Amino acid sequence: MTSELFIKQNIFLEDNKIILSDDFLSFLKSKITDERRYNHSLSVALLCYEVAKANKLENPLLYYFAGVIHDVGKNFDKIKGEEVIDKYYHEYIDYPKYAYHQFIGEYILMHDLTIFDNDVLNAVKYHCTGRKLMSPIEKIIYACDKIDPLRGFDSSSLIKAMKDDWKSGFKVVLKANYDYLLSKVKLKNDLNGIFNELSAECFKYYLGIERRKELN
Ligand SMILES: [Fe+2]
Ligand SMILES: [Fe+2]
Repeated sequence: MTSELFIKQNIFLEDNKIILSDDFLSFLKSKITDERRYNHSLSVALLCYEVAKANKLENPLLYYFAGVIHDVGKNFDKIKGEEVIDKYYHEYIDYPKYAYHQFIGEYILMHDLTIFDNDVLNAVKYHCTGRKLMSPIEKIIYACDKIDPLRGFDSSSLIKAMKDDWKSGFKVVLKANYDYLLSKVKLKNDLNGIFNELSAECFKYYLGIERRKELN
């Protein structure tokens, strides 16, 4: 089905409050079993919705939906998850394991919710790594995921940047995330986390940052 139809049946706006259907709530709880991750999902969803509204984008509930579902692959069974990657996403098998959940998320959306329109699928599929040529919804989900107030750092200026203008805000958040990942790379020497092909292309395309320069 389309995301639009799914939203019509499962996500309602009542008195400026967003209400989820019982079916969708229990689906989310069955997939996102970790309580912190569950709260993060609701928090990201609300932020996506607020950013869409502040920027006067059409259909802000679509951003809520993509936000609330973005980590649906996170608690997937490890062994089964590796099988899914091997079978359906083989080209990404050498990606860092923590990025697997973005592909598994897309798989769950297609197989469990029968969602087949690209907007939400791609927003989930690339929310962890980013990529070049991202759609508006991909950028907003990527950014809001990184600046969720529940992440435990002061992201208020980044949230403001997204609400003021999501296009320039995205680049500000992307750069902040790049710096954060780079500090992790230096600590752990985990080059694949920041310079896997999708992320490297994203940083190059949007920030003009090449891998070699930063590592010298
Ligand atoms: Fe994620
Ligand atoms: Fe997330």
